Amino acid sequence: MLNFKQIPITYLVIAALIATLTSGYSGAGETRQIQSFDSDWRFCAGKINGAERPEYNDSSWLKVNVPHDWSIEGHFKSETNKEEVYEFHVVKGDWKFNKGDNMLWKEPDIDEGSWQTVKLPSMWEEHSNYTEDNVYGWFRRELTIPADLKGKDIFINVGKIDDADETYFNGVKVGGMGQFPPDYVTAWDILRYYKVPHEIIHYGGKNSIAVRVFDGIIGGGIYNDGTRVTEGPFESTCPGGSGAGYINAGMGWYRKEFKLLENIQGKRVFIEFDGVYMNSDVWLNGVHLGNRPYGYSSFQYELTQHLKFGGEKNILAVRVNVQQPCSRWYSGAGIYRNVRLTVTDPVHITQWGTYVTTPDVSENEATVRVETKIRNQSASAQQVTLETVIVDDSGREAARGSSIQKVEADSISSFEQSIKLLKPKLWSLENPTLYRVKSKVHVDGHIADVSETPFGIRTFEFTIDKGFFLNGKHVDIKGVCLHHDLGCLGAAVNTRAIERQLEIMKSLGCNAIRTSHNPPAPELLDLCDRMGFLVMDEAFDEWIRSKTMYGYGQFFDEWSKRDLADMIRRDRNHPSIILWSIGNEIPEQDNANAYEMSKWLVDICHREDPTRPVTSACNSPEAAVKCGFSKPLDVFGINYQLPFYQTLKGKAKLFASETASAVSTRGEYNLVQDGDTLTIKKELNNQCSSYDMNAPSWGNIAESTLKAVKNAPWVAGEFVWTGFDYIGEPSPFSWPSVSSYFGIVDLCGFPKDRYYLYQSQWTDKPMIHILPHWNWQGFEGQEIPVWCYSNCDSVELFLNGKSLGEKKFCDTEDLHLAWKVSYSPGTLKAIAKNNGKTVCTDEVQTAGAPAKIILIPDRTEISADGKDLSYVKVEVVDQEGRICPNTDNLVKFNIKGEGVIAGVGNGNPISHEYFKASERKAFHGLALVVIQSTDKVGEIKLNATSDGLKGSGLSIETKTSVASALSDAVNILEWTYGLHRQFRKQREIG
Ligand code: GAL
Repeated sequence: MLNFKQIPITYLVIAALIATLTSGYSGAGETRQIQSFDSDWRFCAGKINGAERPEYNDSSWLKVNVPHDWSIEGHFKSETNKEEVYEFHVVKGDWKFNKGDNMLWKEPDIDEGSWQTVKLPSMWEEHSNYTEDNVYGWFRRELTIPADLKGKDIFINVGKIDDADETYFNGVKVGGMGQFPPDYVTAWDILRYYKVPHEIIHYGGKNSIAVRVFDGIIGGGIYNDGTRVTEGPFESTCPGGSGAGYINAGMGWYRKEFKLLENIQGKRVFIEFDGVYMNSDVWLNGVHLGNRPYGYSSFQYELTQHLKFGGEKNILAVRVNVQQPCSRWYSGAGIYRNVRLTVTDPVHITQWGTYVTTPDVSENEATVRVETKIRNQSASAQQVTLETVIVDDSGREAARGSSIQKVEADSISSFEQSIKLLKPKLWSLENPTLYRVKSKVHVDGHIADVSETPFGIRTFEFTIDKGFFLNGKHVDIKGVCLHHDLGCLGAAVNTRAIERQLEIMKSLGCNAIRTSHNPPAPELLDLCDRMGFLVMDEAFDEWIRSKTMYGYGQFFDEWSKRDLADMIRRDRNHPSIILWSIGNEIPEQDNANAYEMSKWLVDICHREDPTRPVTSACNSPEAAVKCGFSKPLDVFGINYQLPFYQTLKGKAKLFASETASAVSTRGEYNLVQDGDTLTIKKELNNQCSSYDMNAPSWGNIAESTLKAVKNAPWVAGEFVWTGFDYIGEPSPFSWPSVSSYFGIVDLCGFPKDRYYLYQSQWTDKPMIHILPHWNWQGFEGQEIPVWCYSNCDSVELFLNGKSLGEKKFCDTEDLHLAWKVSYSPGTLKAIAKNNGKTVCTDEVQTAGAPAKIILIPDRTEISADGKDLSYVKVEVVDQEGRICPNTDNLVKFNIKGEGVIAGVGNGNPISHEYFKASERKAFHGLALVVIQSTDKVGEIKLNATSDGLKGSGLSIETKTSVASALSDAVNILEWTYGLHRQFRKQREIG
């Protein structure tokens, strides 16, 4: 039973609130109470009838805590993977094919005399030498349906079609994927699995199938036979396709039972969801509270009028509907962010009702403007006093203000206060100082509500000619784009996991995050405020012209205004946010009404927050200018398209909203023997070489972009695509590849070689990095390309003690120094120098056979809160402790005590192993196991074993409260440089 006076409240805000109350405020119990609603849910995947009804029996459902992502567990197969008796695979075999387009070709009886006979599956470039882009073609075949199926519906599996199709059965349309021009949308990697109703089937006879296909770019036709491969959590025919990383989602239900004490009567009760992916419906005690399609929006419902008190059961039911394909990246599925129950007096501050801005800031004084929306849900007008105290980062009162205003019954009033604060400490990247607004609402001699709002004081500006300034100081935006998944944890939000991502990004010199392409978890923004990152907060990846079949396009008309305004209201107090983005690569950039649409959304942003500029990430800058799309924008975001830095110079405030899209796999170099020489294959066996030399046609390798941005100082900086690898979008490949290659670090957070390139350009502390590894057995005497990244003047390379010469950065246009080194095993060492003096070194050594496992945790003490994490790196090393760069031993984990394995990974984009497992193969000598605490104080013992190797163990302590992970985390530089541990030493010399 929930008794709000007795519950141990763990939620951060309430913890802060209690701290406040002990230092002066009183009456905590009677005011706002916030209760985490994350635990004790029941979950079931699938379409279920009647689960919203209170009496529904959910006793067989899974017990789960949220945040929860059912998709990552991978036990849920797609609809198309059900054992379906009446399914016909129609791709393999002889078809008739004709170029061009004619709607009469859908009819059963047409003359196919001039049509070509083709064998499928095959690209039409191959079977018909049809190589043009933006063209149509038709396929036709016959299908006999046995007489004994009479009266039954059937399914036809038409494989995968590049790009869009319409499929007809006996002249009747039975399906279609993607969209034809003018609003062309590809569905090139999605299985076509169409239901054919019995009414149109000729049983015991011939039926006609006709498929109209449109090809946008690259390949066209029916190229895949639709055979299903299911491995681990992945399914080759998942309707989400490669975008979803071949992980199924579908429909799922959550239910939670709770009881309330009598003393809550008379209060107002709200439930707040930070995000449910997606299209959620919520019921309380069988009453439908609402539907929220966008999976990245935060929302609340009022429960008051439907609640039962005094020990009676309340049942909350949430239906989640993830109809794939709905996203170009892995979305996850479920209540994947936090949930809270909030109890207030009838007079209270509304959700996101405190808005803090600092219109005037000088060294001596800042004006803090606090706008507070107070709602009166009581039956009569109330005289309300709002007391606002500003508290500095050490908890001391810095200023205060008070206002009295009448709030009518059943209405909301806005209180506006302007408070002067002396000698403000500015929020900056180096010193991200945060203040807090403490609001206290007095009604009729009692305190009706209290709340706290962190904020920061800073000024910033984008300029047309010199880039970006924070507090008057020039700052290069060294940003990365991040999708929201957390690697092996899937989409389920975990604060420590996000914090670690940011620590790793910080260690390479990154100072800005773009929340591509959706509103983030609130925890990310809190962390960016505290850790000193700039943020570009992005609303959408599409408007009406959709990029995926079941994407946001279907909801835009009804929901975009609300979703955008809600994002801004929720996020506008975060000092880290410097840009609102109304969308990424919005197809409407070239619409005739592009100006009106863009202006409409920009106006919403300005109305909700006049203090920040609005942008959009434009991949068609020319069209965006021509059609007026960019006109309402305050700052122009250019995706890729490097020449436009120059073209648009002086015409707008510019920044590079998305850059690079360079692809690489950690530890893969793809060196192959080509005649007498060794060559680097950009792509081999679904892996991309880790030498920075591969990017898609729209992107650029990392070096080119870094140089282009550097040479355009009027461009405020860049957001690299992407900081971390993410699940889904495995460009340039598709199945069996399941996760991306774009990351500067892999899916586990292990640095790729590109990490050191960015570090050499974005940080000043002397560093040097050599690539590749030095295990090239069989290539003795061959010339291995050796590259060094460094921020020093020059590098001298030595093989087994013999100098191979010194090279200087001033002698090359490149951002790396290169040698060809005739391979012999041993030690390759690089010495970096400034002004001729050695400042740091790096070396790679040839490793022997795998001999043992080493476990390296990033934290050995974590909080016993059931959420905190220790990331344990698993190294497979030789007898001397050198990482074996070519090994993939299977490592098994055994955990005991107060912890569980939250996930495992290895960063291999083609691994089909489960993320939720107690074993993982190493990939180039490394794997990751993520340990999560239980809510009991104690010890966790982890053991790792592998056939033929010496095992290893470690212990982690779980404590009542480990101060912010931020302060106690093992220095992340140390950890990421773990790659260099022992035999790859990153060492500063003097
Ligand atoms: C961009 C797009 C990103 C991602 C990237 C891959 O054009 O904005 O979401 O798809 O391409 O290169």
